[in-house]
Amino acid sequence: MTEVIRSAAALREKVTTWKRSGMLVGVVPTMGALHDGHLSLARAARGQSDRVIVTIFVNPMQFNNPEDLKKYPRDEARDLALLKADGVDVLFAPGPEEVYPRGFASTVSVTGVSAPMEGAFRPGHFDGVATVVTKLFGMTQAGRAFFGEKDWQQLQVVRRLVTDLNIPIRVIGCPTIREEDGLAMSSRNVRLTEQERSVAPALHRAMQAAAEAIRAGAPVAAALAEARDAVLRAGFAEIEYLDFRDAETLEPLDRPGPPARLLAAAMLGAVRLIDNIAV
Ligand code: PAJ
Repeated sequence: MTEVIRSAAALREKVTTWKRSGMLVGVVPTMGALHDGHLSLARAARGQSDRVIVTIFVNPMQFNNPEDLKKYPRDEARDLALLKADGVDVLFAPGPEEVYPRGFASTVSVTGVSAPMEGAFRPGHFDGVATVVTKLFGMTQAGRAFFGEKDWQQLQVVRRLVTDLNIPIRVIGCPTIREEDGLAMSSRNVRLTEQERSVAPALHRAMQAAAEAIRAGAPVAAALAEARDAVLRAGFAEIEYLDFRDAETLEPLDRPGPPARLLAAAMLGAVRLIDNIAV
């Protein structure tokens, strides 16, 4: 039975009783429109905690584009049915006034890892993410939090803030879940036209080819240039970035060495897709 809770006070009461009996609470923050990527996090949480809270909140503070916020898919009834089937204990779905009450005036801002890529192309995005995630950690009082590697940079930002602000929660990164053709699952994929959907896997394919080339000793710049060409040739409108970076610091790398990742964001029609893979 999944209980729906909308107020922070009611959630705290619930969590307090759980914690009094020594239970470990896991939280999976989401913006809803759930797919198998989200559900894989809920399953990981189920396996590694006694009680699982999934949060659904389409956080206005992290949308730099009002149109994107307006068009963000929402279907709470469907989401709840999926969470029930997965044995999630609580769906915490607060309204905007519960999260940002009148007079709200605080921002959590992480520097460094949040600056390039998503930070550069979506100004203010990571302040919104860091602020809401900090609030969700405070509201849920969870001991473990589950995040997808799909949003690799976000995962690094969250790890940074948890360390820096001494938040007593363990952050667990979970692998990216993909469609059969390699496209990373994303709530925004439903906005792709049929034609765009057939082009979309080209991003992951090009990144895989680049990763292989780099592993085989090709110069990084050449491998990246080839991948960018392939993505544009496939029909993407624009590449915002397609970079080879240190997996943890997110500093650019010009040759392999430390654990590294390829990370990309590209526009396919009106839809912005992101992906990343280990090299
Ligand atoms: P959202 O995009 O809904 O993603 C919620 C969580 O699901 C994130 O940790 C994300 O990395 C993970 N996820 C999304 N697609 C995935 C996939 N294909 N495989 C594995 N995990 C995947 O990320 C956010 O929401 C928000 O920024 C949030 C953290 C909730 C703060 O508002």
